[in-house]
Amino acid sequence: MSEAARRLDLAELGFDAGAHVLVRHALAALPEGAVLHLHGHHPDLEVHARAFARQLGHAGRTPESAERFAAATVPSGAPLRHLLQRGPATDARRATAERALGAAPDRVHEAPPAHWGLAARGALVEAGAPRFDFALRDKSVVWGDDLAAMYAAGAAAQWDPATAIAWHGKAPAPELEDALVAVLTYLIENETAALLVPARFCAQVHPHFREVLQLLALQAADEARHIEVFMRRAHLHRTDLGLSTAGGQASLHTLVVEPDFAAASFLLSVLGEGSFVHLLGFLHQHAPDDCTRQIMKLAAVDEARHVAFGMAHLRWQAAREPSLLGRLATAIERRHSALQHTAGLNDEVFDALVVLAAGGLAPAAIARGFAAVQQLQAQMDAGRRVRLQQLGFAAEQATALSALHTRNFM
Ligand SMILES: [Fe+2]
Ligand SMILES: [Fe+2]
Repeated sequence: MSEAARRLDLAELGFDAGAHVLVRHALAALPEGAVLHLHGHHPDLEVHARAFARQLGHAGRTPESAERFAAATVPSGAPLRHLLQRGPATDARRATAERALGAAPDRVHEAPPAHWGLAARGALVEAGAPRFDFALRDKSVVWGDDLAAMYAAGAAAQWDPATAIAWHGKAPAPELEDALVAVLTYLIENETAALLVPARFCAQVHPHFREVLQLLALQAADEARHIEVFMRRAHLHRTDLGLSTAGGQASLHTLVVEPDFAAASFLLSVLGEGSFVHLLGFLHQHAPDDCTRQIMKLAAVDEARHVAFGMAHLRWQAAREPSLLGRLATAIERRHSALQHTAGLNDEVFDALVVLAAGGLAPAAIARGFAAVQQLQAQMDAGRRVRLQQLGFAAEQATALSALHTRNFM
């Protein structure tokens, strides 16, 4: 250690204006036991330096007059005013703190402690922080492969409703516009359920699992945007919206109140949003105008991401919890029995889908539209069976479980 490194010239700077920043830096660079010569002109320098040393565990003393005399001069010409001997730690808070593992996705704790709380992954967490009792604090129940890449892709794919969609054009024929408004009314309440579910679980996930939090927040933001564009399109040529049915809301209620994260992700993302990808594709194909076509295409891409996230986290959990598939099967069965005396899909929505696919009200066109909706339902079922098998269900069980999925689609 050179003599220059052991001298700190504060010139006119006092502890009331930031001298501690320089003193900390200088002490941090010294080995334990080394002495820092503090030079300065500030009138309170000695008093403040002594208090600073006491607070942070360094020894401090006022230099003897001989030492003052012998001390080398500093550029500002300030006299030697205090001596600080570096203690064992420059900061007692750091001495008792623990490292919340690494910031990278591969440095994630299996069960981060409650007292790590909101601290960034990789931060040094001071002892004595409050406990945050996040219900979802085990990696086995929240994590999945490639979450960081999934979040980055989702963040990059965000779109602005104001510029991504052409909000103009002629109104379609009245029967098609009526049908579209009926479907949009239904979509909006379904999107609202799809927003509430990730938003609720987002608040229960230990923030150590940062990527999970970010993906759930992004999913909620996507749904907020879907609500916006469906609402805006519904009001483009109409003042009033369509009918919200008790049966439709009963179905969504079972989803919104589902307390288990795995069961909720399964019912929402794997089954509901998976079915919605087909529905939005159908509406894209049969849209009565360009505006609707653009909306459905963008929303379908978002929904496919939500399905991928749900699948990733359930596959992760299924690999670690052998009883998970049984629990998920029970969740579908429980929901099916809770809903068996309700009407399921709003019949006005079903009819509206037929009219949209028909493109008009001529009998032959309606027959084609009806067949197209039947085909849509078959595609939804086939997609659900594929995803169920990807999660580990046998083909027969996948067929049986897909058939129990709510008639409301979501
Ligand atoms: Fe959505
Ligand atoms: Fe979604």
